[in-house]
Amino acid sequence: NHRPVVAGKRVLITAGPTQEAMDPVRYISNHSSGKMGYAIARTFAQAGADVTLVSGPVGLDAPDAAVRLVKVRSARQMLEASQEYFAASDLVVFAAAVADYAPSEVAEQKIKKHEGTFELNLTKTPDIALMLGRQKRAHQLLVGFALETENEQENARRKLESKNLDFIVLNSLNDPGAGFAYDTNKITVIDREGLIRHFELKKKEEVAQDILDIITEKWSEA
Ligand code: PMT
Repeated sequence: NHRPVVAGKRVLITAGPTQEAMDPVRYISNHSSGKMGYAIARTFAQAGADVTLVSGPVGLDAPDAAVRLVKVRSARQMLEASQEYFAASDLVVFAAAVADYAPSEVAEQKIKKHEGTFELNLTKTPDIALMLGRQKRAHQLLVGFALETENEQENARRKLESKNLDFIVLNSLNDPGAGFAYDTNKITVIDREGLIRHFELKKKEEVAQDILDIITEKWSEA
């Protein structure tokens, strides 16, 4: 009857999409609902972790009264909020679907429509996982997600390496019921040693529990 290893650990989670404004009424974004990240936040909080959830705009209720919820809109804001909590974190889970590009300029007034085509210049947004991965210290664990449509394991492993992550959670848009918006997900978890674990399609709450179990195992090794 001993204290669970996650109790009191400080966990930072990113979730949801980001929105990158082009003018006061329009933005670029993606289909992330935030469900996966919120389920992870709730699961870790209920296991006794001290959880900070940096969330893009989603239509979900706060996951748990014990979770510190920081709401942001853009990738830039998500980076700034994450930076604030990163140094004190024992674990970071990057579950957000950050928009990779943002309009190079944000028009002050609503952009008028014209005849013919319209060209929009885009600039890369900061890669939050990459930047925090570079600052990772020995006691910290970093878990990324990879949403893939092809060469899935290879792409996921490349992201694990380049972002200096400890685990990458692969979910594929080719698996029915997996990825964006569903209440379910189907994941494959890859670690730095190349160990690959496959999981069945299950509720995002149960997926979150599987991730908690993997982290608990890792923390128990030491
Ligand atoms: O929100 P849901 O509807 O429940 O859907 C869940 C999900 C499919 C969004 C989630 O499970 C998921 O896969 N999130 C990551 C999606 C993604 O953007 O993957 P990526 O391959 O582009 O990015 C790889 C990793 O780097 C991710 O951990 C991502 O959070 C992170 N990243 C990417 C770009 C960026 N600018 N900053 C980042 O931190």
